[in-house]
Amino acid sequence: MKPATLLLLAALLSPVSAQPAADPSIDIDKVMRVAARKLAKFDAAHPEKTAYPTDAKGADWTTVAPSDWVSGFYPGALWYVYEYAKAEKWPDADAWRKRAESWTAGLEAQQFNDKHHDTGFMIFDSFGNGNRLTGNPTYPPVIVQTAKTLATRYSEETGMIRSWGKKDDKKDFTVIIDNMMNLELLMWASEHGGGEDLRKIALRHADRTRELFFRPDGSLYHVVHLDPADGTVRRKRTAQGKADDSAWSRGQTWAIYGFTYMHEATGDPKYLESALKAADYYLANLPEDQIPPSDFHSDLKGLEFKDSSAATIATAGLLRLYPLLKSPELKDKYFKAATASLRALTAPPYFSEGDDKASLIAYAARNYHADPAHKLTNTSLIWSDYYLLQALLRYQQITAANAR
Ligand code: GLY
Repeated sequence: MKPATLLLLAALLSPVSAQPAADPSIDIDKVMRVAARKLAKFDAAHPEKTAYPTDAKGADWTTVAPSDWVSGFYPGALWYVYEYAKAEKWPDADAWRKRAESWTAGLEAQQFNDKHHDTGFMIFDSFGNGNRLTGNPTYPPVIVQTAKTLATRYSEETGMIRSWGKKDDKKDFTVIIDNMMNLELLMWASEHGGGEDLRKIALRHADRTRELFFRPDGSLYHVVHLDPADGTVRRKRTAQGKADDSAWSRGQTWAIYGFTYMHEATGDPKYLESALKAADYYLANLPEDQIPPSDFHSDLKGLEFKDSSAATIATAGLLRLYPLLKSPELKDKYFKAATASLRALTAPPYFSEGDDKASLIAYAARNYHADPAHKLTNTSLIWSDYYLLQALLRYQQITAANAR
């Protein structure tokens, strides 16, 4: 046989898509069923639907008002279970849609909340997922109005959206790395009738974050204070990490996810470069069990000082990154990293199957906190459940050709 014929035969016989195989130890169906049980338990215990889960040390969630930054994660998790239930033809799929709708409705007034920057998390995880899955025509106006409200915290002088503090504060302008997660709301709203300015604000904020937050090694500052008059930097520091020049692990993962999204939305390689820079620092500094300490500079190595919630965000981000990558080597590298993380998150001691824990995931830290009484550590956080479910749905989609 001639070499050209052999090459043609090889091409015809090779798989059409190079989709990676699913790791059989990652039991998506089991996690989804445990999630359904735990999320339904909270719903049944809170018929008034006005208090949203935030953290849990044991069987019950502590709750907060709809205006709290975490309020979108529970409705978002309900939407992910609905997405899975519908695809897998669970007989009670419709009940999951109804649960998600009713908890989403409780956040409607937040479209006018201009007290902080977190409305991207709150409204895009709830109304955003609801719109994606149902096309409910009442949802887009809420998303667009939320983006317009968030944009009132932007200033031309700084080129950024103010994260914390009063929006007319003339003395200080505070921005935190987490704010990258609110840009998807602005970009989506811009595309859906909100106007070009929302997109410009998102791009400007992302560009300024690239300039101001990264250190040369790929780690990031958590908080940057600017002069509101002209945007000059006054101070870079931490609020939730160990020290001003340390690497708060969750901040690292907000950057991985946020810059990945900006690359997905724009195709601009500079955002990909930032996402990879943040991801490479994160992966290079992970301990063997794949779950970071609450700060990469921490010398508190015990399980009870970990932040598993950061791992759920990183995993969802890496799986969102995967389809955007062109190079087979990079695809392989980040897919393997995401798979290793998912393996750890869906097995003990992190995965928590029983009713003694409200959450799916144990050993998270709200902040770096060297406190043996574990006030802010050794806990569970609602966003772990949200990002774990998102990561599993992304993983299922990426591996679908081989999994079924
Ligand atoms: N966005 C707040 C936090 O990560 O704790």
